[in-house]
Amino acid sequence: MHLQNSMILSLFFFFYLVATTHAKDDQFFECVDFYKQPSLQHPLLKHHKLQIMSSPRRSTICPRGMVPIQKFRNNANNLNAQVAVNHATLDTKFASEKYHGASAVLSIHNPTFSGKATRSNIWIEKGAPQGLNCIIFGWAIEPKFYGDNKTHFTTYWSNDGFYKTGCYNTVCKGFIQHFSDLYPGKPFDQVSTYGGRQVAANLSIIRDGPTGNWMLMNSGALVGYWPKELFSHLGLGADTIRYGGLTVGGAPMGNGKFPDKGNDLSKSSYFKDMKYVDANFKNNPISELEMIVDTPKPYCFRLNYLKDQQTITYGGPGPCPY
Ligand SMILES: *[C@@H]1O[C@H](CO)[C@@H](O)[C@H](O)[C@H]1NC(C)=O
Ligand SMILES: *[C@@H]1O[C@H](CO)[C@@H](O)[C@H](O)[C@H]1NC(C)=O
Repeated sequence: MHLQNSMILSLFFFFYLVATTHAKDDQFFECVDFYKQPSLQHPLLKHHKLQIMSSPRRSTICPRGMVPIQKFRNNANNLNAQVAVNHATLDTKFASEKYHGASAVLSIHNPTFSGKATRSNIWIEKGAPQGLNCIIFGWAIEPKFYGDNKTHFTTYWSNDGFYKTGCYNTVCKGFIQHFSDLYPGKPFDQVSTYGGRQVAANLSIIRDGPTGNWMLMNSGALVGYWPKELFSHLGLGADTIRYGGLTVGGAPMGNGKFPDKGNDLSKSSYFKDMKYVDANFKNNPISELEMIVDTPKPYCFRLNYLKDQQTITYGGPGPCPY
């Protein structure tokens, strides 16, 4: 009798967990037929040939043939109209270079939040006469956009410095979602604990040589891609890569603390294993010769470049008074 009860209890508990996980996630995404996803209706993608990886993995959160797409609550797409933006980044410094990709393992945090937005990203950019071509991805807390204070996997792209094109995630048509459980907009289930367990994402972007599409990967598995047709200049490569944090409206950066004095990675927000793909499609660890630290307000937001470890620690509590 006792055994039976506990079995029933544990079964109940199991189903309860499954059910709540499902219900919780349902708020954030819907499953859409891979071949009917909204991005494919973008006027520039009329003749786009869908790129399918040789062994498409099935997403476990959607039925076969379908992919998860963020449901958005709020169209607040005001990437342009931002006051009090601060950043601390490590950038490539030779804009004459051609970059075909970038990657890093970056820690995920959910600091006590105030202000408008905090973002930790890898930026891929190419300056162009009609505006900046860019792809940006990483994690963000943006209550106005997401309707909560959670840490979300977040991407952005634009073909003109967010003047007329581009947006967050899949709010506008552009990003092609693949068969992955990770999708732009997804909240992270787990975040790092100060001085304890660190949760990190292993993210990379690679420009696919034959197609020119920019492929976003999570631990080597394809999340999705930005077709080359979306961009006027990124089709042949990027001229700048940046890694680091950006805050809007007095928000904290990273874990909300300055990097630990000894750069202890359990107490600092970080990017490690930082790499870039060069003009010859060779994957290289970042090197001191190539990189420059950009911290306009180091008294508010710091960044330490640990040169021989291809690592940065960064962050700060915000807001930045002056
Ligand atoms: C986010 O956090 C702030 C400060 O803790 C709180 O005032 C606000 O209500 C929270 N917003 C949401 C949507 O949870
Ligand atoms: C990140 O993912 C890549 C591709 O799968 C893999 O080669 C690399 O070892 C991973 N790095 C870490 C630190 O897990």
